[in-house]
Amino acid sequence: MAGCILTKRLLVLGGSRQALRGLEQILDLGLELVVCDYDPSAPGFDLAHHTILASVYHLDQCLPAIQEFHQKLPLDGVMCLACDVPHVVARIAQSLNLPGIPVDVADLFVDKFAMKERLVASGISVPPYAIVTAAQDLDELLEKWQMLVVKPVDSRGSKGVSILDDRGQAEWAFRHAKEMSPSGRVMAEKFLSGPQLSTESILCDGQAVTPALSDRCYEYLEKYKPFIVENGGDMPSRLSDEILDAVRALISSASKALGVSRGIVKGDIVVHEGRPYVIELAARLSGGYFCTHQIPYSTGVKLVEACARQALGERLEASDWHGKYERFVSTRWLIPSPGVIESVPAASEICGLKGVLAFDSWVSAGDVVGGAENAAASVAMVQATGNTRAEAIAAAQNALDAFTISVKS
Ligand SMILES: Nc1ncnc2c1ncn2[C@@H]1O[C@H](COP(=O)(O)OP(=O)(O)OP(=O)(O)O)[C@@H](O)[C@H]1O
Ligand SMILES: [Mg+2]
Repeated sequence: MAGCILTKRLLVLGGSRQALRGLEQILDLGLELVVCDYDPSAPGFDLAHHTILASVYHLDQCLPAIQEFHQKLPLDGVMCLACDVPHVVARIAQSLNLPGIPVDVADLFVDKFAMKERLVASGISVPPYAIVTAAQDLDELLEKWQMLVVKPVDSRGSKGVSILDDRGQAEWAFRHAKEMSPSGRVMAEKFLSGPQLSTESILCDGQAVTPALSDRCYEYLEKYKPFIVENGGDMPSRLSDEILDAVRALISSASKALGVSRGIVKGDIVVHEGRPYVIELAARLSGGYFCTHQIPYSTGVKLVEACARQALGERLEASDWHGKYERFVSTRWLIPSPGVIESVPAASEICGLKGVLAFDSWVSAGDVVGGAENAAASVAMVQATGNTRAEAIAAAQNALDAFTISVKS
């Protein structure tokens, strides 16, 4: 770690449970940590040197509080952790004259339609897509594309996203997406079959390095249809080097097309008939214990550190951020059936099981869990390793099986 930034003060938007490990990684760099979150009991506040109580999803709430803080104790950089607010980060950076990506670039990353328009204009492969203003539009698109993904233009965590392959459901799919869109806009895409990847890259002076490629696991696609609920991911990817190189090249040209030359880019990619397509890119670190746990365990690359150093204005060398090794690491999420949680085993019993690297659960007796409709459906996460991919997956599954919560439906 370069000694030159040891005395710097970094603002992190987001102090949730999923941000905790990343905040620890930032503290390991010797930085002075300021955490902003709307929740007075955000666990990240316990780690911070200073706290700012304000919603990071509402610029009108957090910016004045951050400006006031900056007057007294000047900030040297800003980033977000486990929350999807690159547009807020960009505006804070602009207002305080800190390093960051331009506001108009950041805005492209929180508008799925604008992003696709820009990508298509640069010849980047994306699934066929269209804005829909009424359920009837979906009927026409179904004729053309047979199977659709209907989604809000500007939401996250799969909220409001559904698969549509039956005309009878068009009205519902439209309303479901519209309700979850802050701007009330809905789009549809052709559902592209094939393996899906989560990727995470760092851009150094316009050069994208992608140390992390994970096979997303949608084991229960049929069970939860029309909802799309991911239940884990496996690293390294099982896809061929040729395809993975094509994915890396796609991310690199897509980042360029979107006008981003520094910072982190998180990707959702589908490989359809042997060719990669961009479902979405995000100009921020991943959530879901990916950048904080799975990527460092599997590759030795600390993208939280990279993000923090760039947020403070440091110029990083692309060659320093390639994977150092490849270890089999699998994540699995526990998605319970709906009902009231009656009992939850001790987490300590799970952490000691063979191959388990990390385990977290955020459920207690008495909690009510709903149906599996989006990424918020899970109640626990495990990451496990093994000598082979199959061993890592089996260890993760074994740990989740051992976490026998009882649910009264
Ligand atoms: N055109 C498509 N073809 C195939 N699968 C798709 C398509 N669009 C979306 N999906 C699947 O649905 C998931 C959610 O869609 P999308 O990424 O657009 O919404 P999101 O709210 O950003 O969700 P997430 O936070 O899970 O990425 C994707 O990660 C992908 O697995
Ligand atoms: Mg997405």
